[in-house]
Amino acid sequence: LQLAVLASGRGSNLQAIIDGIEKDRLPACINIVISDCADAFALKRAQDHGIPWAYLDPRQYGNRQDYDRTLAKVVEESRADLVVLAGFMRVLSTCFLERFPHRVINIHPALLPSFPGMHGQKQALAYGVKISGCTVHFVDHGVDTGPIIAQRAVPVRDDDTEESLSLRILEQEHQLYTEVIGWIAQDRVEVVGRRVNIKEALI
Ligand code: GRF
Repeated sequence: LQLAVLASGRGSNLQAIIDGIEKDRLPACINIVISDCADAFALKRAQDHGIPWAYLDPRQYGNRQDYDRTLAKVVEESRADLVVLAGFMRVLSTCFLERFPHRVINIHPALLPSFPGMHGQKQALAYGVKISGCTVHFVDHGVDTGPIIAQRAVPVRDDDTEESLSLRILEQEHQLYTEVIGWIAQDRVEVVGRRVNIKEALI
């Protein structure tokens, strides 16, 4: 499975995917890492591992559509089959998404549909839920609204801070994201309307 990973920041999920590939746990290849931030640590990780990378500066484009058209072109030229959002802080427009139907996935640090958008962990703490977690989903036109592929739960502890809860969730994110990409690589993920079924592994 050939991947294009889009990341705006530290890129720890990108690193988990790189590690999975390098340790032969994930039958995939990262064709390109793309960022909208010049100083994203994710780009440094790509460079350190010899992965092609691109920085697309949003200020160079008149509007979102123009940016997303270029983004789509760079992804297409990389020949990736799957677009993996890993802390990519931009909402993708329809003109991008319709070029990759059911081929764009995202990870969110909360159990959707609770706490979408920014700071899912902080929202969960403020609400007072006792369980939170992370969600991997297909990306549609909304913010964190697409069909859910998989979720992992973690407990929220009484003494949790946004940081401690984020860390506990992040550990699960790294495992879950690589696991889901593995399922897609094995062609085991089937979308039926809003529901996503995971087919049994063929041995
Ligand atoms: C993660 O918490 C992810 O769930 C959210 O953005 C964060 C990215 O972290 N979408 P990293 O850049 O992968 O370390």
